Amino acid sequence: MSEEDLFAAERKEDLEEAERLRNELRHHEYLYYVQDAPEITDAEYDRMMVRLRELEAKYPDTVPADSPTQRVGGKVAPEFGEVKHLTPLLSLGNAFSAEELQAFDERVRSGLPAGAELEYVVEPKIDGLACSLIYENGRLVRAATRGDGTVGENVTANVRTIRSIPLVLKVPEGEEVPELLDVRGEVYMPRHAFMRLNEARAERGESEFANPRNAAAGSLRQLDPAVTAARSLSFFAYLVGDGAQDKHSESMAMLTRYGFKVSEGYKLVQNIVEAIDYIKAFATTRNALAYDTDGAVIKVNAVYQQRILGATGKDPRWAIAYKFPPEQAETTLEDIDWRVGRTGVLTPTAVLTPVKLSGSVISRATLHNEDFIREKDIRIGDRVIINKAGEIIPEVLRVVLEKRTGDEQPVVIPANCPECGWEVARKGSEAAIRCTNPHCPALGREGLVHFVSREAMNIDGCGPSVINQLLDKGLVRDAADLYSLTREELLTMDRMGAKSADNLLQALEASKENELDKLLFALGIRHVGAKVARILASEFGTVDRLLQAETEELAAIKDIGDKIAESVVTWFSVPANIDLLERFRQDGLKMEFATREEQTNHPFFGKTLVFTGTLPTLGRAEAKTMAQDVGAKVSGSVSRKTDYVIAGAEAGSKLEKAQQLGVTVLDEAQFLSIMEEK
Ligand code: IVH
Repeated sequence: MSEEDLFAAERKEDLEEAERLRNELRHHEYLYYVQDAPEITDAEYDRMMVRLRELEAKYPDTVPADSPTQRVGGKVAPEFGEVKHLTPLLSLGNAFSAEELQAFDERVRSGLPAGAELEYVVEPKIDGLACSLIYENGRLVRAATRGDGTVGENVTANVRTIRSIPLVLKVPEGEEVPELLDVRGEVYMPRHAFMRLNEARAERGESEFANPRNAAAGSLRQLDPAVTAARSLSFFAYLVGDGAQDKHSESMAMLTRYGFKVSEGYKLVQNIVEAIDYIKAFATTRNALAYDTDGAVIKVNAVYQQRILGATGKDPRWAIAYKFPPEQAETTLEDIDWRVGRTGVLTPTAVLTPVKLSGSVISRATLHNEDFIREKDIRIGDRVIINKAGEIIPEVLRVVLEKRTGDEQPVVIPANCPECGWEVARKGSEAAIRCTNPHCPALGREGLVHFVSREAMNIDGCGPSVINQLLDKGLVRDAADLYSLTREELLTMDRMGAKSADNLLQALEASKENELDKLLFALGIRHVGAKVARILASEFGTVDRLLQAETEELAAIKDIGDKIAESVVTWFSVPANIDLLERFRQDGLKMEFATREEQTNHPFFGKTLVFTGTLPTLGRAEAKTMAQDVGAKVSGSVSRKTDYVIAGAEAGSKLEKAQQLGVTVLDEAQFLSIMEEK
């Protein structure tokens, strides 16, 4: 075979493999994002994706726009263009009571020929933002936000990154692929993704989103699709724009066949009473959903009836939104409880007259700090509005000033620690008030709670009540004492059976194998969070090396500032702390960090990685140390020697260069999933 023929044969094989991978990846995305029933591991998925990227990089002009690889990264969108909707995206009228729903039903009946058979579909109203997706011959060609209902923003590149949206319709065999399909639905952010995003933003000092809807809107309206891709958005379809089907319920079934998630739990009902019953039941179950809902939507099922009824202005006469009352409640603030945390900070919590709020009884709410109390002018005895969004802890929103009687008492900021009676102090610009007693019993107790916590030593079965008892009974004074606890001692405790005792001993034993970073974090050294602990552990490898480090040496490490360096050196200069470490050593705790040699079988071992752009959850230093820990080299610039580029939001020229050179590009999720491999 001539060289040319060889090349052609290889090309043919590669292209076939790429097409096969694209189809497989589409299938697995559907199983994962729509069905919630994956059949392969994330790592397997990533490996297929990595291989497909490799192949596509070899033949860049053969990459179809709807390849699964094009969901991430992609081209940076110019300012969003405008899109005129094929038919207007209508809004919905609101109802707030069963009576208003009855009135809606009457309006519908009087608008239809006498005796017409009427069915409704009721479905959750998802709290996100409306989007129209245009499919031509089964392929997603355009996506637009609602805008003013007639003209919306072109967000196609961003919508392509949402994995629960099929880029190619899954039209079953034997069914005709529609020439044109206008799918309407809600783009939303699941609660857990919202919390994770806000945590990451808070850690980076960025402003947090107020709720998942704002976060979804902010994420969809990003000029860089890579940012959208990193934000875990999802989509529920709830309407077909052109109403090709006879019934809404048939459209929903069709959308399901085509590979969409449709409004979960939607129901066909025969009359408005059944619709109201559905809504009542939904009101009690909706909090368990993974996403926010703000009501339920009732729609006339027959499309011909929808046409007869038409619309008034922007609201259809054939549908209505029942809105749940906002998740707020009014109650009395009876007292303020000041608690001392492990760093000695006093945190105020409102003690409330118990009140029901979104399915649970609330009797406490956070007040954050002194400034929060002053800003809101909160007084003891005030009537206050509290709110709760999803799993987020309740918070005092505001005082109901109109209900002040004059008997309310101003809040007295404690001058003494509620635990030990020592004076408290507020330093400089800090919002926090701290106990000045370095031996405050609260520090020891909270320090132990921290030591055993999941992110630290991860000792299960040792919650705050167990710790309180251990301290009260004098069985434990500090963290090292935990490791000399005996079964007999544990069995003397209340509510501690043989099984719990054995489990706790086992958890303690297992925790001895933790890597040094966990122990360093567990020690509760001021300014040493989980991330810094990892950097220190990997930089020094053993506790003895760290112990000898001087402030300058520490401060020279990337991401370790003077404050951290001083705090670490101070901690290691206290004899009692050295003593504690010595006892840990005698108890058999592992006090080192895995050496690189042990990691030689890791997929990143010996590879050169380049990080670029802002990763959605990992800080740059953290990602770098993680990679170095498994033996990767981390470089600042992309060249032919680069094995992987891990690209986050606003990745610029490095990403471009990687694409030019055909270097494999990973997003954070892919990076993390390969990291997990051993
Ligand atoms: S139907 C013509 N169904 O609520 C009917 N809307 O307040 C158009 N929404 O703009 C909407 N879940 O963004 C419909 N299951 C659902 C919905 C839903 C959420 C949103 C939608 C709409 C807004 C109106």
